[in-house]
Amino acid sequence: MQHIFKKGSDPAAPVLVLLHGTGGNEHDLLPIAEMLSPESSVLGVRGNVLENGMPRFFRRLAEGVFDEEDLVARTKELHDFLDEAAREYGLQRDRMITVGFSNGANIAASLLFHYEHALWGAVLLHPMVPLRGKQLPVLTGVPVFIGAGKNDPICSVSETEELQSLLEGAGAEITLYWDNQGHQLSKRELFAASDWLDNRF
Ligand code: MLT
Repeated sequence: MQHIFKKGSDPAAPVLVLLHGTGGNEHDLLPIAEMLSPESSVLGVRGNVLENGMPRFFRRLAEGVFDEEDLVARTKELHDFLDEAAREYGLQRDRMITVGFSNGANIAASLLFHYEHALWGAVLLHPMVPLRGKQLPVLTGVPVFIGAGKNDPICSVSETEELQSLLEGAGAEITLYWDNQGHQLSKRELFAASDWLDNRF
């Protein structure tokens, strides 16, 4: 997958895997990584799907309606890529934390839905439920931060709570941060994510 890698100053810090929103690229979330954990190695990844020229991590049939077959295949593609990148750059595979926004948060949630040891933790910014009716793997103790907007027209309050309860049902430890915004990121939620990272890792 197209990506950039920046080696961090502290090999013990979590490796941040940056997953952009629709129309973004591997560079988009670099300032957020710098804010969250400046010492971390960072892997910024670009989604391989194009929707009217806009990169995404998986196909959708309509706004909020996902192509589940593609989602499952693309989740495996990303999982395999993370394994390869860990080998190529000498990273500890079990210290990877995704920082995903919107479509990037959705594929990160899908990694958690499909693979037991995909991630050390996850920062999901404005995620949706990636797919329903699936038995989740055991996620005991996996820390997950969810940043959500009470007025988000794409990720409703009820869908955010559904995602929380599905992940909690699998054993993940969810920290849910609500702000009064819509689908855009707020400084406040990023500060909250930064505090969460400092306390958890
Ligand atoms: C998605 O398609 O993953 C979600 O609707 C979020 C987005 O707009 O990318």
